[in-house]
Amino acid sequence: MLKITEDLRQLYDEKKRALHALTHAHHEVLMKLATAAEFRDDDTGVHIVRLGLMAEKLSLLYGETVEFSFMIRLAAPMHDVGKIGIPDHILKKPGQLTPDEREQMNRHAEIGHQMLLSTVPLFELAASIALTHHEKFDGSGYPAGLKGHAIPLEGRVVALVDYFDALTMDRCYRKALDDEQVIDMIAAQKQRHFDPELAELFIDKVSSFIALRENTNARSLMFKDLIHLSADDLIGLR
Ligand SMILES: [Fe+2]
Repeated sequence: MLKITEDLRQLYDEKKRALHALTHAHHEVLMKLATAAEFRDDDTGVHIVRLGLMAEKLSLLYGETVEFSFMIRLAAPMHDVGKIGIPDHILKKPGQLTPDEREQMNRHAEIGHQMLLSTVPLFELAASIALTHHEKFDGSGYPAGLKGHAIPLEGRVVALVDYFDALTMDRCYRKALDDEQVIDMIAAQKQRHFDPELAELFIDKVSSFIALRENTNARSLMFKDLIHLSADDLIGLR
């Protein structure tokens, strides 16, 4: 009897290890895809690392658990993985997109969702973020035009931190905007683009988000660092 119990335990442990290795491999492949998608759009790839850390911080400020916020830290960087499916002449077009090009570009949300959909909770969360990070609080976003709290929290969080980080970084077609200017733009978009509660939390603690950005840049952090380094660890490092 003892032998059978021991064999069963070994079998269980082996299965658990195999599942863990598989999930880890799955995660690594998707992170690499996210990096590939990001490198086509931005030549450093560090935007998505900052995004993961800022999303974690905002989730914690909102009162979400450490466990959920950790998952957001890992899942948020995959939000634009669907850009893999967008042709370069649209993704890298310097001027305004035509309505048809805009429609194609907007498809990255649904493409990313399809790529990430899985029964593994981390990828389920990443798929939800990919699908909903362009929804707007007043219902004027895409792809579904969801309104208010019908937009999952993870989508509302990533919409806000993505906006702040993207506008305060240099792009090939424009220079970075000042932090103050972007904070004013976020305040003006409360209730329209952004969840007003999240916007207020963000503005109130903006110095933490700026510290996250500066410390991430100074250390040239990469995806793999997101596994071990939390937003609060990083804010504490000066
Ligand atoms: Fe996007």
